[in-house]
Amino acid sequence: MCGIVGYVGHRRALNVLINGLQRLEYRGYDSAGFSLIENGKIVSYKKQGKVSDLVVLLNGLEFKSNIGIAHTRWATHGEPNDINAHPHLDNSGNISIVHNGIIENYATLKLWLKEKGYFFKSETDTEVLSVLIGYFYEKFKDLEKAVRIALSKVKGTFGVAVISSYEPNKIIAARRGSPIIVGIGEDEYIVASDASAIIQYTRQVTYLSDNELVIITKDGYQTKTIDNLPTSSDIQVLEFDLSKIEKGGFEHFMLKEIFEQPQTIQDACRGRLLVDEGNARLGGLLPVIDKLQNVDRILITACGTSWHAALIGEYLIENLCGIPVEVEYASEFRYRNPIIRQNDIVIAISQSGETADTLAAVQEAKRKKATVLGIVNVVGSSIARETDAGVYIHAGPEIGVASTKAFTSQLVILTLISLLLGRMRSLSQEEGILIANEIKALPEKVNKILQNAEQLRQIAKEFSYSRNFLYLGRGYNFPVALEGALKLKEISYIHAEGYPSAEMKHGPIALIDENMPVVFIAPKDPIYNKVLSNIEEVRSRRGRVISIATEGDENMKKYAEKVIYIPETLPMLTPILSVIPLQLLAYYIAVELGCNVDQPRNLAKSVTVE
Ligand code: F6R
Repeated sequence: MCGIVGYVGHRRALNVLINGLQRLEYRGYDSAGFSLIENGKIVSYKKQGKVSDLVVLLNGLEFKSNIGIAHTRWATHGEPNDINAHPHLDNSGNISIVHNGIIENYATLKLWLKEKGYFFKSETDTEVLSVLIGYFYEKFKDLEKAVRIALSKVKGTFGVAVISSYEPNKIIAARRGSPIIVGIGEDEYIVASDASAIIQYTRQVTYLSDNELVIITKDGYQTKTIDNLPTSSDIQVLEFDLSKIEKGGFEHFMLKEIFEQPQTIQDACRGRLLVDEGNARLGGLLPVIDKLQNVDRILITACGTSWHAALIGEYLIENLCGIPVEVEYASEFRYRNPIIRQNDIVIAISQSGETADTLAAVQEAKRKKATVLGIVNVVGSSIARETDAGVYIHAGPEIGVASTKAFTSQLVILTLISLLLGRMRSLSQEEGILIANEIKALPEKVNKILQNAEQLRQIAKEFSYSRNFLYLGRGYNFPVALEGALKLKEISYIHAEGYPSAEMKHGPIALIDENMPVVFIAPKDPIYNKVLSNIEEVRSRRGRVISIATEGDENMKKYAEKVIYIPETLPMLTPILSVIPLQLLAYYIAVELGCNVDQPRNLAKSVTVE
């Protein structure tokens, strides 16, 4: 989704801005642009398409400017084209802004400004904000005041960065519901919506809070609220390094991230898994440990892949702890007036920590006085900051738009939470030790599956012609079927659906013929024989069966055209293994079809709009 970079310091700003935009490409976008203050004037370039198209437009032009702002846009108001791309200027052409988020009352503001004689070139809500800032600048002749007053008139969300030739040495940035991070270097500052645009220059950062604004010059920065009250800012250190946001020899970020999973699973457990005690230590949950002790019901809310993790979390927590769990899409939760009782706990799961629907669900739950926990990847993100307590998954930056390593890490954390809650209740130490040992063994088992990637590449070649896929699984592996189907459709644009295996006969079976590949997740578990019957039903209609089975299950070869083996583990942990071949299958099919794996069409990495 949209990305912001701004720079003020001793370097040539354009280099930092273009570099930053490239680092933000993974978020998904359809146009890019920048503004500099060059020889006292605003110079702007913007272009529909990729950052590389913007660079071509410059055709070797040189700019000496040391201050500028830049943007990658993911269209919300107005189609993706050069005019709607950011930055947007005010009517004087002396103020330039880039903006993430949505200005909900833009139509009213636009009308109001039009009546005063102001004009608009684009269809965007952002241009309304730039013109509004221009209007208040004419009144107050003070950029900071103009920005503050304009933002106070805005309904909706924003992360915004502003420069002006009126006050050419400063960047003003502000946030409400859309992240802004200030990177603090030596005599230089980088402001961005995402730490990956900053890490190359500095690790020291400060995160703006909602309704906070920062005024940055090359000599320092000052934060305050939009209402002009001073605030203090915490400096934090970014913990990942540059290699984490580079491809490191892999053809795509997605493949790199799939292969990182033995490490990321281990990182999720580090210092948390107490094998000898059969328990987990989750420091982030200590502030709410009493609430966890007394919890009557857990609601888990999330979107997309994180919602699939939540479904597995429901099975885990109910099985290990006997606590009733409900899972709900955050987009439904936020508008549905959910019932939250005194001893309920709400858990929000989000890789990015910025998903607008999940953030709104967190806020809704807090309004209802629930204790809200986060399972989040991005440190310092909005959801991490809004929740009462939580656990970071520590998967490192996930750049590929299709979520992979975050999913398995979310599952590890949900298992650790279940272990902790279970041990507070009836789960015996013996059972706990068994589970903990199996968790410990997961990285090596994932490694083993990854060594089999070539088999998946061959299967992908054979099946990439199919226009539809069905994914079926039961129990813990039903959500894995949903996840496998989501992965495939996201990056290869092949229609795929996931179902509980037994549901097939209630409808989807009508689709089965010799052209329909059906991926069964069928590990050796208590419902294995039931799944075999479902496979028979597909085979008897000449569907083409691909099975994910447990190592040693030779019998499966009689049932399935292709069998992909995963090592044996406890049923509750199979999703962490069974999803890996499905990630690889989707990846190789997308590559086979020549799709843009890391930046699939229409998708954004973090969905910061409703
Ligand atoms: C799927 C995918 C999306 C996200 C969803 C939630 O591969 O990436 O479905 O899972 O947009 O995002 P987060 O987890 O960042 O809240």
